[in-house]
Amino acid sequence: MATHKLLVLPGDGIGPEVMAEVMRLIDWLNAEGVAKFDTETGLVGGASIDADGVPITDATMAKADAADAIIFGAIGGPKWDGVAYENRPEAGLLRLRKDLGLFANLRPAVCYPALADSSSLKRDVVEGLDIMIVRELTGGVYFGEPKTITDLGNGQKRAIDTQVYDTYEIERIARVAFDLAKKRQNKVTSMEKRNVMKSGVLWNEVVTQVHGREYKDVTLDHQLADSGGMNLVKWPKQFDVIVTDNLFGDMLSDIAAMLTGSLGMLPSASLGEVDAKTGKRKAMYEPVHGSAPDIAGQGKANPLAMIASFGMALRYSLDLGDLADKVDQAIAAVLAKGLRTADLKSEGATIISTAQMGEAVLAELQALH
Ligand code: NAI
Ligand code: MG
Repeated sequence: MATHKLLVLPGDGIGPEVMAEVMRLIDWLNAEGVAKFDTETGLVGGASIDADGVPITDATMAKADAADAIIFGAIGGPKWDGVAYENRPEAGLLRLRKDLGLFANLRPAVCYPALADSSSLKRDVVEGLDIMIVRELTGGVYFGEPKTITDLGNGQKRAIDTQVYDTYEIERIARVAFDLAKKRQNKVTSMEKRNVMKSGVLWNEVVTQVHGREYKDVTLDHQLADSGGMNLVKWPKQFDVIVTDNLFGDMLSDIAAMLTGSLGMLPSASLGEVDAKTGKRKAMYEPVHGSAPDIAGQGKANPLAMIASFGMALRYSLDLGDLADKVDQAIAAVLAKGLRTADLKSEGATIISTAQMGEAVLAELQALH
């Protein structure tokens, strides 16, 4: 049996609390011999600033580079508000994404049946929803040069952000989307604004070429990102995989996320390029939520986003798709029983703590085993 090397970075606030519930699952999986994990824990964010003066050390970066997958909790909090911008907790997360080349951000939006009434949309619009947003994460307008604010000297200033995409960046994100679609409903919707942006013209052209060359068996559809956003709210079940750039992906993935209920439910994956020699790729898995200082230390945090992120690691990095399915089934079963953390408060539900939620997921996983 293969041993999977995991770097565990709990971070700050509720990060360590929700990570403890992933460790509960890992300990059981190791003890039962279901899978073999070799875990090492490191510091990131404020925890690393406190211990080492930087939001992530070179030594931790080296461990991240060597791991099969990184499991990341959350970082930040008011305690580090005064820290210099370059050294703030978020810089640790950004360095991991940038130095490891994690260009593909996967955000599933899944509506668990038991939570169909927790959405801001009507039950029949979201019930059974299962879509995947693939956002380009290391290019586009967030990184393009020039990126400046210039004083024009006449009482005016000029701000410039630049949207830049090269062919290879669009090709590789398109492949991630098509490969995912093949394992799902076989449909990709690409979103850009080719009507007003040159980068949109190139995006459309390159995605179409990759499709024609390598993925003819997958259905490809193009939508303008603005009307695509409208369609996400109007009838999200028309989508399977959506692929889009960094800026549009930031917004569209947040919109899609809220179709399904609480921030405490949303996992994500960030993937790098496949190494031609080893066939492996760098990858980091983290909940979408932050360190939630308002509820930290109270045992209230919902660990399901963190647990589902671990599930994504099983699926996308460790070739343990069957086990990932069981983790998802265990989450659905716990919710179906009416067990909820406080963020999912609903009528007739039983409110339980972070640790009780972790225990409940483990119990369902054991029952499925
Ligand atoms: P947040 O996601 O930490 O919290 C927003 C709201 O959602 C809060 O009311 C919080 O209690 C609630 N919440 C979040 N996760 C929850 C969970 N698992 N269970 C139950 N309730 C949950 O975002 P906020 O408050 O804007 O930021 C707090 C800190 O986190 C800041 O320092 C921010 O910079 C950092 N942050 C870190 C991120 C990361 O590590 N990737 C992402 C977003 C924010
Ligand atoms: Mg965002």
